[in-house]
Amino acid sequence: MQKTLTINYQEYESEQELNATDRELIAAARKATEGSYSPYSHFSVGAAVKLGSGDIVTGSNQENLAYPSGLCAERVALFTASAQTGKGCEVVALAIAAVDSNGKAAEASPCGACRQVMIEQEQRQGKPLRTLVALDDGRVREYNSAVDLLPFVFDAEL
Ligand code: THU
Repeated sequence: MQKTLTINYQEYESEQELNATDRELIAAARKATEGSYSPYSHFSVGAAVKLGSGDIVTGSNQENLAYPSGLCAERVALFTASAQTGKGCEVVALAIAAVDSNGKAAEASPCGACRQVMIEQEQRQGKPLRTLVALDDGRVREYNSAVDLLPFVFDAEL
């Protein structure tokens, strides 16, 4: 039987349509691109997570000559937040921004591995993790839950 899956997300024409908290988170993600180590892709990605405490933790992509050893900005930020806050870290929102080799704004839609980590963070905290992706033309895409980014997620009872 043919079935159809619908994914929910919102898009804003500009950051100005967002509230001050979300604008601040995107600004933190954009600033975090400056910490990117990306000599191979020349693609700088920054991520900023807003914790339940109100704190913001940032990360950027860190590459390595042995390519798979590098890590995306999203996982650097999420793992840093978890490592620094210990048990019970709640991530309310994750913002992502990127710039290309010409310093121009670029779109970084989270990769599959990051989506898997985002959804486990969401499951762990029992509350949705909102994602904001700054697009290359000034628009912002928003997902209310990591579930919308990864349908049919691996979810074994171990
Ligand atoms: N990258 C991220 O850090 N986040 C994304 O959402 C997409 C891709 C990184 C991985 C690699 O360092 C570079 O961007 C190019 O793929």
